[in-house]
Amino acid sequence: MPKFLGRIEFPCTIELGRGLEGAITNVTRIGYVNGEEGHLNYRGYSIEDLSDNCSYEEVAYLLIFGKLPNRAELNTFQLRLRKSGELPEEIIRIIETLPRDAHPMNVLQTGVAAFGCLDRDSLEVTRHVSDPAAALEIETEIAIRIMARTRSIAAAIARARKGQAVLQPDPNLSFTGNYLYQMSGEKPSPVTEKLMDICLILQADHGMNASTFTAVVTHSTLSDMYSTIAAAIGSLRGPLHGGANEAALEELAAIGGPEKAKAWVAEKIAKGQKVIGFGHRVYKAYDPRALVLKKHAEALCREKGMESLYRTAVEVENLFLAEMKAKGKPIYPNVDYYSGIVYHALGFPTPLFPVIFAVSRTAGWAARVLEYLPENRIFRPRAVYDGPTDLKVVPIEKR
Ligand code: ACO
Repeated sequence: MPKFLGRIEFPCTIELGRGLEGAITNVTRIGYVNGEEGHLNYRGYSIEDLSDNCSYEEVAYLLIFGKLPNRAELNTFQLRLRKSGELPEEIIRIIETLPRDAHPMNVLQTGVAAFGCLDRDSLEVTRHVSDPAAALEIETEIAIRIMARTRSIAAAIARARKGQAVLQPDPNLSFTGNYLYQMSGEKPSPVTEKLMDICLILQADHGMNASTFTAVVTHSTLSDMYSTIAAAIGSLRGPLHGGANEAALEELAAIGGPEKAKAWVAEKIAKGQKVIGFGHRVYKAYDPRALVLKKHAEALCREKGMESLYRTAVEVENLFLAEMKAKGKPIYPNVDYYSGIVYHALGFPTPLFPVIFAVSRTAGWAARVLEYLPENRIFRPRAVYDGPTDLKVVPIEKR
């Protein structure tokens, strides 16, 4: 990777929006979001191709190691994941001790951070700053452990919320198969497992979004990988990011059927309120992940007798998009609009939606952090000071 990302000659105008819109953090080979045309690829492969033809494990390998694995490489990777998915008693106790109605993302964050206290190897990166190759190897190993552990914690949260005993992974199941098994106690059907795999693949990476940026910034201080992933989970939790699919589904369910969509959309527009599940900082065209999920949501809702929910979503989409196009400001559905419907139809409780997102995105967070590590430089942007500079302290009695 080049040391310099470019040189800016002064005086000049830099167009930066609030929220660092327009800023470039680094050069990457991990994924490309083409927001203008609505395409997303991971390391050169389109997400449509990957979700049709690969498992989540293959895609996670691709993101982390830069190539699709051959059979032997995949077997080794699966073995590494399987070795790390067991939950120790300390972690189970923490999950079971926290209130059942605590936000699952807070519990996930706590579980991942707590695991960092048990994994002594996670401190190694700071000891290897002078040996980048060793640091990268150790951090890659820890990232793989965290992927499996985040998945197992996520499943344990689902069970603890219902007062059920936590289940350890089954060594004969895939990463995704185990996620579903550890949550429900039942081995999933191949169709359900494939659909879940698709969901995880679609959300595995997505440019320098808020949580990924959080991960890269955190790790740029040479903090440990557990702290890094815990920080990213905290960032993903918010309703403007990973929390949007639960909010989107709640909105759709509350509409009460496709025939009520017209009045609902009209009211939203009249009040100037945002419709959750629409809009994206980068996509100015249809979010390609939403398109893939929309196709699956239709078939799944039909199978599960949830056509009304699906038809409400499509009706809202058509009406809202038409209104926004008429205003010259088309705003399309994002991934969260249809992922909530798919997760609901798969039987996930709504509060767990962002947890699924975090399980999937751990691969992308890790890949981005590992890519940045060899030429690590701590992030340190600046703020423009716009306050007074000549104040004098008045004694407290006189203020
Ligand atoms: N409904 C209605 N209007 C919208 C929406 C929406 N969902 N999203 C954006 N707009 C409008 C804004 O009102 C604003 O209009 P204005 O120019 O007249 O003031 C304009 O589009 C730009 O909106 P911003 O919020 O400034 O766009 P930004 O790029 O900062 O935000 C965001 C993107 C946060 C995703 C926004 O579209 C939003 O809040 N959407 C709803 C929440 C959501 O679905 N989040 C999930 C994002 S995907 C993900 O994180 C995986």
